[in-house]
Amino acid sequence: MTGQKKITWITGASSGIGKAIATEFVKNGVHVIGTARRVDLLKELQKELNGSSGTFEYYELDVTKVDSVDKFYKHISQNYFVECLINNAGITSFKQAVENSFEEIRDIIEVNLLGSIYVTQKVLPQMIENKSGAIINILSAVTQKVFTASSAYSASKNGLHAYAKVLREELRDKNVRVINISPGATVTEIWPTKVISKHSDKMMKTEDIAKVVYQVYSGNSNLVAEEIVLRPVTGDL
Ligand SMILES: NC(=O)c1ccc[n+]([C@@H]2O[C@H](COP(=O)([O-])OP(=O)(O)OC[C@H]3O[C@@H](n4cnc5c(N)ncnc54)[C@H](OP(=O)(O)O)[C@@H]3O)[C@@H](O)[C@H]2O)c1
Repeated sequence: MTGQKKITWITGASSGIGKAIATEFVKNGVHVIGTARRVDLLKELQKELNGSSGTFEYYELDVTKVDSVDKFYKHISQNYFVECLINNAGITSFKQAVENSFEEIRDIIEVNLLGSIYVTQKVLPQMIENKSGAIINILSAVTQKVFTASSAYSASKNGLHAYAKVLREELRDKNVRVINISPGATVTEIWPTKVISKHSDKMMKTEDIAKVVYQVYSGNSNLVAEEIVLRPVTGDL
């Protein structure tokens, strides 16, 4: 790790919760690499964050494309040590199980579950070697409660939850923190516009989620907040 700059890698940094986390981290002096497919939005974010105490670099990356993930990681690990990975990229469909096409189900599992696991596998060896690091998974309230019209999404997030709990035990003596954050309804473009128009005043704000993520990341002791559930005070939608 000698000479390598420490960075935080955030997947799905182009909008919503990922963008807010990138902003919060960079404003607090963290060096962030944000990845997503919509590179125009990442470029805009870089402009917005110009002049902050941290830095924001971006790369176009689809987490379902394993060759691209390999290439990307090989490239960045020449100069950087990913000391924090935030698995945030995610999609859903809000359809009843019977209405989902198999392609939709496969896409959800590929992005939310397999994409996150693949990205995690890339960063693990260096974290283990350096005996330091944090893997933060943005899960969902579906890890706490059953929501209809979310079967594939629930499978993907609960699958990642199970994976992360095992990983945490395997990494205990490696000083790598595994932190699962399960937010409830938050105003982002993942929701249909009619839901936002009706419920936005009840829903959480991305900036507030980002502040919690930064707080758990930046804790500097032998304590780790392992599982965090964030809900609107008034409850689920
Ligand atoms: N909003 C909520 O109420 C809520 C609640 C609980 C959990 N979450 C979770 O929060 C995370 C962020 O979602 P959000 O609500 O902020 O929605 P969002 O604004 O739609 O953000 C989703 C992000 O994921 C990225 N993404 C999607 N497919 C990708 C792929 N194949 N490869 C790389 N990046 C991809 C998108 O970037 P590109 O399209 O540019 O690739 C975007 O940056 C998700 O994991 C979601 O499940 C959201």
